Amino acid sequence: GIMLPLTNEEQRVVFYATTDEPTIPSSVTPDTPLSELNLNWRERDLPEKLRTRHVHRLHPYLGKFIPQLVEVFLRKYFSPGQTVLDPFSGSGTTLVQANELGVNAIGYDVSAFNALLATAKTKHYDLKTVRQEILDILDAARHATQAGGLQLSLWSTNGNGNGHGPAANSDYLQRWFAPQALQELLAYRDQIQNYRNQEILKIILSRSARSARLTTHFDLDFPKAPQTEPYWCYKHSRTCMPTTTAYQFLKHYSLDTMARLEEFAGQRTNATVIIKHEDSRLADIPPIDGVITSPPYVGLIDYHEQHRYAYELLRLQDKSESEIGAAKRGSSQKAQRTYQESIAEVFRRACGAMPAGGILIVVAGDKFGLYDEIARLCEVEVEAVLKRHVNRRTGRRASEFYESVFVWRKP
Ligand SMILES: C[S@@+](CC[C@H](N)C(=O)[O-])C[C@H]1O[C@@H](n2cnc3c(N)ncnc32)[C@H](O)[C@@H]1O
Repeated sequence: GIMLPLTNEEQRVVFYATTDEPTIPSSVTPDTPLSELNLNWRERDLPEKLRTRHVHRLHPYLGKFIPQLVEVFLRKYFSPGQTVLDPFSGSGTTLVQANELGVNAIGYDVSAFNALLATAKTKHYDLKTVRQEILDILDAARHATQAGGLQLSLWSTNGNGNGHGPAANSDYLQRWFAPQALQELLAYRDQIQNYRNQEILKIILSRSARSARLTTHFDLDFPKAPQTEPYWCYKHSRTCMPTTTAYQFLKHYSLDTMARLEEFAGQRTNATVIIKHEDSRLADIPPIDGVITSPPYVGLIDYHEQHRYAYELLRLQDKSESEIGAAKRGSSQKAQRTYQESIAEVFRRACGAMPAGGILIVVAGDKFGLYDEIARLCEVEVEAVLKRHVNRRTGRRASEFYESVFVWRKP
């Protein structure tokens, strides 16, 4: 691997992997030395299928960390019955992994969609009921979009009350979906209120909407403008057409979701999971034993914007003004300073909720070198910084870089 020159101070705490064989996550115990960890998994060590198993792929989400990375640190630092906090819980990776190992988990996220997704993943379901509901609403949506039913859906004031039909209240929805696709999505949405397991139905709807947008297949993360004409597709190396319907996605993801919930049900424990839709800088955190998290980075991703379709369809509350490090606010010196103070405020609060000696595991691609100062601001002891070689081979976003895993202790 590439070694960067280190100062004396850094040599004490900074570790690059010294063994060639990547760590097998399930083999880690509290006695595994940090210096023996090799977190540089390649595709063949940790194939996509394992990284995205069961509920980890209930819905796409840009900026997740690898479940197995979390597993390593849960096994090393936490025991069943303890409580881990993730103050930036995102799609809920820490919460899901903690639950599998019998560790209680508390997550905060300022994005309503992320809180919804994490809740849908970790909710304790009655599988028979949830399966019935998923199939029933699919059927109801299909009926509602057939001739006749379609008229009803188009002109009902169900939840909109503006008299212009359900689609007219959102320019975004009008612009980003073909008329038929939008009818189908709205028909599904308007049925959700009739069911008990609304979170998971909303996730199926959102995932379908994401796929049914008028975008190219190769730019599903941040499409700039609707694609209404055939286009050359880099992903499939042929000419593709933007989709005009959504029902096929609703059906496909309904079946996929049921399979994923069933698989997770076989592996989950009764450990508690609490998810709060809150700004963690303002959170009143209950007692915890430690933290595992990957904070938003400065100027990198707009977390609300990446799921804009879900906010529009589900009318979720927008708190994007409280996002730390939002891409739209850039990465100027001033933005970096504000970022450091915000992140430090969150960790100060977390430290206030844990005993002395408690552990904080913070995963960040610290390109601007902001975390030494953050550690100083929140007065933690820096026990180690593990450098993890990340090699992404996913299509046009292929990249290679080092990510840091900061191991901090509350003094
Ligand atoms: C890097 S992502 C975490 C991803 C997560 N580890 C996962 O695997 O899904 C950072 C998260 O921090 C959230 N966030 C940003 N500002 C926040 C704030 N002030 N309070 C709580 N969460 C915030 C974002 O919405 C985003 O979901």
